[in-house]
Amino acid sequence: MESVGVGLLGLGTVGTAVARRLIGEWELLGERAGATPVLRCIAVRDVARSRGIDLKNARLVGDPHAVLADPAVAIVVEAMGGTDPATALIESALRAGKTVVTANKAVIAASGPHLSALAAEHGAHLYFEASVGAGLPIVGLLRGSLLGDRITALDCVINGTTNVILTQMRGAGVSFERALEDAQRRGFAEADPSLDIDGWDAVHKLVILAWLALGGYLPPEQVDRVGIRDVAGNDVAALAELGYRVRLLAHAERAGNGAIHLRVRPTAVGTGHLLHDVDDADNAVIISSDLAGTVMLRGLGAGGASTASAVVSDLVTAIRERGLPSTVNAAMPREPILLGDEDVEVAGYVHVRLSTEADARALVLQALEDRGLPVDAAVDLSGSELIVLTGMAPRAVHDRALETLDTLTSVDQILGALDRVEA
Ligand code: NAP
Ligand code: HSE
Repeated sequence: MESVGVGLLGLGTVGTAVARRLIGEWELLGERAGATPVLRCIAVRDVARSRGIDLKNARLVGDPHAVLADPAVAIVVEAMGGTDPATALIESALRAGKTVVTANKAVIAASGPHLSALAAEHGAHLYFEASVGAGLPIVGLLRGSLLGDRITALDCVINGTTNVILTQMRGAGVSFERALEDAQRRGFAEADPSLDIDGWDAVHKLVILAWLALGGYLPPEQVDRVGIRDVAGNDVAALAELGYRVRLLAHAERAGNGAIHLRVRPTAVGTGHLLHDVDDADNAVIISSDLAGTVMLRGLGAGGASTASAVVSDLVTAIRERGLPSTVNAAMPREPILLGDEDVEVAGYVHVRLSTEADARALVLQALEDRGLPVDAAVDLSGSELIVLTGMAPRAVHDRALETLDTLTSVDQILGALDRVEA
C-alpha cells in the first residue's frame, strides 16, 4: 500500500498519544485512509530526554523547521501549543503546500480565518477537530451535518481543567490547588494553566465554534470573559445545597438582527439543565438551531487519548482528501455586530453578608427591585448571610444593581456573584 509521510511537532500529552496510535495501528489506519500514514520526523524541545515510546524509524529533532523541511513529510501534525512559533510554523507548512492537522485552539482562535484562506491559496488543507472538545466531533458536526441549519445559540462546557476543579470543589474538602494538580497530573491542563483558570482556553474554543456555527469571527480579546479564580468554595457548596452546579459556561448567540454575543463566565447551572450533570473532565456542547432543534454532544473533552482520537481522525480524512481541491474551512467571517450589555439577558446569583442595620434584609431586596432587578428567591444562611437568586434582566441592570449593593449600609460585604441558568 502507498504510504504518506507524517511529521509531528510536539511529543507531549497529545503528541505521544498520536504517535502511539500511528505506530500501533498503522495497518487499520492505512485501510481506512487508503494509504498508510508513516511517522517520519518529530520535533521536541529536549531531544535528550527519554520518551518511553518506541518511535520506530521516526527521527527526533530539536528544530521544528527540520520537520517542515523533510521532503518525506506531506502532512504536518502540530501538537506543541502556544501561538509562537506554532502560528509561523503552520503558515510555512501551508505555504509549502503541506496539509496541517492541529490541536492548537489558541492558534485557530487567533488566526483561523487567515490560515484557512492561506491553505486554500496554496492548495493545502487545514484540519483542527482536536482544537475544541478533544474527541467530541463538534467541528465535523458544524462543518458537515448541520450545514443546512441556521444556528442561533451554543451553550457549552469546553474546558476540562476548570470543570475538574469545580467538580472537586463541590466534593468534601478538596482545595482549588489540589484539584488543579489533579487536572495537571491527568494531562488536561495547558502548559500555562492560567489559560484554563482565567477562561482563555474556553474563549479560544468558543471563538472557533462561533466562527463555524454563527459565521461571525470575533477576536478572543473581545469576548466577555470571567475565569474561575474568584469562585469561592462557599458559593459552590451553597449552590450545591440549592441544587445548582457551578460550571465555566461558554455561551454564544445570534440575535434576530444578526448581532452576536459570546461570553465565558462561571455560572450556576440548575437541576434538569443539560449541562447540570457534566462533571469532571467531560465537555458538552448544546447547539440550538432552526431545523434540527437541540443537538448535544458530550464526552471526555481533554487528555491524550481523547485528543488523539480527533487528531488521528483528521489525519485519516486528510489522506482521503489528498488531491481534492482545497476549500476554505468555514464561511469567511463577516464583521460581526456585537450585542450590548443592555441587550444581553441573564439571571444571577448574589451572596451577601448583611450588616447589623435594622431591616437590612428587606432593604437589600428592595434596592434590587428598585434597580429593576427581579428577585426569584431569597435564602437565609447562618451568620447573617443572604443568597438572592436574581431573575432575567439585561447584564447592565445586574451590574448597576451590584454597584448599588456595594454602597448600601445594610450590606457588610458582597461575598459572591455569578450568572445562573435554569433548565
Ligand atoms: P505538552 O504536553 O506541553 O507538549 C508540548 C510538546 O511540544 C512537548 O513535547 C514539547 O517538547 C514540544 N514543544 C513545545 N515547544 C516547542 C518548540 N519550540 N520546539 C520544539 N518542540 C516544542 O502539551 P499538550 O498537552 O500535548 O498540548 C499540545 C497542544 O494540544 C496544545 O496546543 C494544547 O492546547 C492542545 N490540546 C491539548 C489537550 C490536552 O488535553 N492536553 C487537548 C486538546 C488540545 P518537550 O517534550 O521537549 O518539552
Ligand atoms: N486544557 C484544556 C482543557 C485541554 O482543560 O480542556 C483540552 O483542550
